[in-house]
Amino acid sequence: MTEGENSDVKIVSISERHVEGYHRCLDSVARERRYIGFVEAPPLESSREFVLSNIQNDVPQFVALKGDEVVGWCDISPGKSEGFTHCGTLGMGILRDHRRQGIGTRLMERTISAAKARGIERVELEVYASNIPAISLYEKRGFVHEGVKRRARKLDGVYDDILVMALFI
Ligand SMILES: CC(C)(COP(=O)(O)OP(=O)(O)OC[C@H]1O[C@@H](n2cnc3c(N)ncnc32)[C@H](O)[C@@H]1OP(=O)(O)O)[C@@H](O)C(=O)NCCC(=O)NCCS
Repeated sequence: MTEGENSDVKIVSISERHVEGYHRCLDSVARERRYIGFVEAPPLESSREFVLSNIQNDVPQFVALKGDEVVGWCDISPGKSEGFTHCGTLGMGILRDHRRQGIGTRLMERTISAAKARGIERVELEVYASNIPAISLYEKRGFVHEGVKRRARKLDGVYDDILVMALFI
């Protein structure tokens, strides 16, 4: 997919005015019950605290906007403890109807380059083994497989492994 095909979607650094849209987007992806660690978004106020803390601490977090609607997000949260601040954990999601249009790639690139500028050297993530689209996206960007947490999720009676992946930037 070329840049032009989703050029009506803008990638911007998150700001306070995006909190509700981000929360709706997170909630929608969570309620699919497949891809992320939540089955619904945390309360709006927790999302607000998370976003405001990210802004205050210069944590790379970007949203994809179609008009005023938040259709995706990506963040890389740096480790807080001494010895781990060179690592960052990546999380992302795109609303179902906006997938496979190159938005995830654009969001991830912007977030990785902001993470690099902030001094993060190692980007790590966890992904369910059943999540082929996300694994393909990460492999394509150069993330390598580091390990497997076996049967780490049991949801709706179904087990899934968690794959640990990382990229040095
Ligand atoms: C994973 C996700 C973020 C990808 O975002 P996206 O905008 O759809 O991805 P892109 O359009 O930029 O696709 C980039 C590459 O990812 C891979 N990919 C994306 N969707 C895919 C699919 N359905 N099947 C296989 N590969 C896929 C391909 O390699 C693709 O490159 P290509 O189009 O040249 O083949 C999106 O599917 C999503 O939000 N999923 C639900 C939430 C989630 O899984 N978050 C990550 C949790 S670890």
